Amino acid sequence: MPTSSDNGILLSPSIIASDLSTMGRDVAAFDPAAFDLLHLDVMDGNFVPNLTFGPGYIKSLKAHTAIPFDIHLMIERPELSLESYLDLAPWCVTIHYESTRFPSRLLQIIRRAGVRAGLSVNPATPLEAIHDLCSECDLVLVMSVDPGFYGQPFMTAALDRIRRLREYLDALRGGSSTLIQVDGGISMKNIASVAGAGARIIVAGNAVFGADDPNRAALDLKRAARNDQ
Ligand code: DX5
Ligand code: ZN
Repeated sequence: MPTSSDNGILLSPSIIASDLSTMGRDVAAFDPAAFDLLHLDVMDGNFVPNLTFGPGYIKSLKAHTAIPFDIHLMIERPELSLESYLDLAPWCVTIHYESTRFPSRLLQIIRRAGVRAGLSVNPATPLEAIHDLCSECDLVLVMSVDPGFYGQPFMTAALDRIRRLREYLDALRGGSSTLIQVDGGISMKNIASVAGAGARIIVAGNAVFGADDPNRAALDLKRAARNDQ
């Protein structure tokens, strides 16, 4: 696991850009050297317009792979179903700041379950809104698109947001080990810039699964991310 001070990049390919109906078989072919995490986009058709899958699907998938799960909850009021995701013992569970009135309490519940706690911010949410919650998070997910769909273009304003957040975290007393994750529109063109700005966990949907060879594409992305360090 990288810390804020090393150059380690974790790539987290997002499976919604793939064929979900065959994922149980496909996942066995993913190269763990390229697929550090599996990014699982849970969408409820309410917080975001799209609807994907829930804990049942994720549980089935778990039987087919040892790659750690990075669960991104894009659901209204995650407090109502959080436990069912924590029961799956994922690598992290990320909630959206905008989806609940109790982000602090939920982050504490996630950590108490022995799972890394992530807090995500939409592009329209001022970063200052989550500053006081950073000490409760293991990672902050800076969205570089409005959540809901894969294959959207990267919002370049995210670069400055990542940089400002990293500066804020580093300036905290003793520095902060909170990692920055970025999600949305990542490609070979921008991955070095997001890594250079301070993102350490990088989600990629279309750039991995839109390629003929997802393993090759994921390895290329990781290599490109490191070049800018
Ligand atoms: C967007 C999702 C992303 C998405 C990423 O709502 O949270 O994880 O699947 O896909 P790309 O990389 O294609 O934007
Ligand atoms: Zn996501």
